[in-house]
Amino acid sequence: FTQISELELSAAFDAHVHLRDGEMSQLVTPTIRQGGVNQVYVMPNLVPPVTTVKQCLEYRDRLKAIEPNVDYLMSLYLHESITPEVIREAKKAGITGVKSYPAGVTTNSSSGVISYESFYPVFAEMEKQNMILNLHGEVPSTPSHAHATKDSAAITILNAEPAFLPTLKSLHEKFPKLRIILEHCSTAAALAAVRACGSSVAGTITAHHLSLVIDDWAGDPFCFCKPVAKTPEDRDALLQAVVRSEGRFFLGTDSAPHDQGKKRGEDKVAAGVFTQGNAVGYVLDALERGVERGVVGEEEINQDGLEGFFGGWGRRFYQVDDGRGERVVLRKGQEKVVDVLEKDGINVRVVPFRRGETTWSVEW
Ligand code: NCD
Ligand code: DOR
Ligand code: ZN
Ligand code: ZN
Repeated sequence: FTQISELELSAAFDAHVHLRDGEMSQLVTPTIRQGGVNQVYVMPNLVPPVTTVKQCLEYRDRLKAIEPNVDYLMSLYLHESITPEVIREAKKAGITGVKSYPAGVTTNSSSGVISYESFYPVFAEMEKQNMILNLHGEVPSTPSHAHATKDSAAITILNAEPAFLPTLKSLHEKFPKLRIILEHCSTAAALAAVRACGSSVAGTITAHHLSLVIDDWAGDPFCFCKPVAKTPEDRDALLQAVVRSEGRFFLGTDSAPHDQGKKRGEDKVAAGVFTQGNAVGYVLDALERGVERGVVGEEEINQDGLEGFFGGWGRRFYQVDDGRGERVVLRKGQEKVVDVLEKDGINVRVVPFRRGETTWSVEW
């Protein structure tokens, strides 16, 4: 693999994208295909969140108008207004799933979930309707003034994902046929928890969590996201999960654009790494680094595995096919990541992951 400079692959399915709305969506939606992707699963955390079928379908129409050559699978935001009746209506309208955000853990999550139990009737209906539940798998941090001194460990952004894993297990036990995705797995513990569940549970892995560790985002707002990147051991376990996935893990970039002012301003730094425009290239680069460090074997990387991680396994789990049947040719080191994504007449600017560095080019 490290000797290969050109690869041909099916165009990718990115199972977790933030395309926003308005000007930001005008800026970022055209970069989907540049990253080697022709099908996406779109997150619903707009302001206000996408909680009705009507809003969701109108949002899809706006995205299609910006870039018609992409397939958009759509999600609703889990919220008290989502009832079993809304689930039935959503299924009929062709909406794919529901994303659950724990209240307060990340961007636009203030209307998120406080107790999972209260949604059991919704999950039961989703299971019946064969819809997908996408979990943001973190528990909210303990406020620092409330840290206990003994008995109960305080939650911080470093243990927020491991602390969520019992919830994954119990949801899977209560709804064994409900298809659940633990989104943006960032720890070895999360990978083990997914594997411990049955085949109705899968995990997505982002491009940036395959290369970042804690030190990278401490001090660099463009590497800060939720869940935060963890230890080198966690990062290497993620790389191994890409090549040893056996269909349980697939690409969901969690590409999350924020205007550069939200990253460098005087307010709290917005969480999110923008990877859309070079999605497939970043993963290939990370795998190469993994081989160089000896955590992934050269012989573990092959055409079938790459095709699976980038599209095949995600499409299989989502039960969709690649209606476009397009292929892309990637060339190592032939693309320079832009310093900033900007466009005439658009008043937001986004600094991408690994700005200014080289990565794989994508030719359609
Ligand atoms: C806040 C956070 O996660 O610290 N969000 C963010 O930084 N984007 C909390 C929130 O706004 O929900
Ligand atoms: O870093 C993140 N950014 N994590 C999320 O879960 C949400 C996302 C966003 O919407 O910006
Ligand atoms: Zn999330
Ligand atoms: Zn996300």
